[in-house]
Amino acid sequence: MAKKQRMIVVGNWKLNPPTLKEAESIFTGIKNGIKDIDVKVVICPPFVYLNELRGLFTKEKIFLGSQDISSESKGAFTGEISAEMLKNVGATYTIIGHSERRAKGETDADVAKKVAVALKAGLTTIVCIGEKERDERGSYLGFLKEQIVGSLKGVPRKFASNIIIAYEPVWAIGKGKEAVTAHDLHQMTIFIRKHLIDIYNTAAASEISIIYGGSVDEENAELLIADGEVDGLLVGRESLNPENFVKIVKVVEK
Ligand code: 13P
Repeated sequence: MAKKQRMIVVGNWKLNPPTLKEAESIFTGIKNGIKDIDVKVVICPPFVYLNELRGLFTKEKIFLGSQDISSESKGAFTGEISAEMLKNVGATYTIIGHSERRAKGETDADVAKKVAVALKAGLTTIVCIGEKERDERGSYLGFLKEQIVGSLKGVPRKFASNIIIAYEPVWAIGKGKEAVTAHDLHQMTIFIRKHLIDIYNTAAASEISIIYGGSVDEENAELLIADGEVDGLLVGRESLNPENFVKIVKVVEK
């Protein structure tokens, strides 16, 4: 586990929900449910809800993040949203390199550029990595190594404490899929940490949190945290159900 970090649970709402009213209701449900809990909770809604949702919280327990950012800071880049803009509407975190963005053509080089921009702007950056499939001879480990190195290329060591690596194997994400086993997750956290040490050094690598995402629910959360040796969880579907999400946060707190 990374040193002295508070446990973290991140909710990635993806392209949900369809209305601001629903977004406010889910957010309020989560906020009320985690009042006395000592876990960092980050909600990453679609961009358009950030500004409204930040008006709903008062305590330093729940944070907002974006699901992506532009690698550009301003200018003629139609459809893009910059790190600075996101900070101005209440985001303190950002997810970068989610497999659903990589599936749309985002490369490791694109990810690395965005990560550097986000960190420079002061956003805590959740960098997603994960293999599409596994094979018995372990060639997915080579793919993952390249993804870790490529996604952090040129990202200075001084930002280590603001970097979170989210291990999200693509085969475990979404409806009808199953989370990784806690045993395999533990192996992956060691593998990722080893490569972080190679890229930076032992001290810097120990400041980087490693979290897991992919079909997390209240049933598997406990084992994933306890035996997987991760510093937190990145939750998709279950983060849209306040009751279930709060249960996951409570499991993590234990
Ligand atoms: P699910 O929890 O819905 O499998 O999604 C995981 C994910 O992609 C979070 O970023």
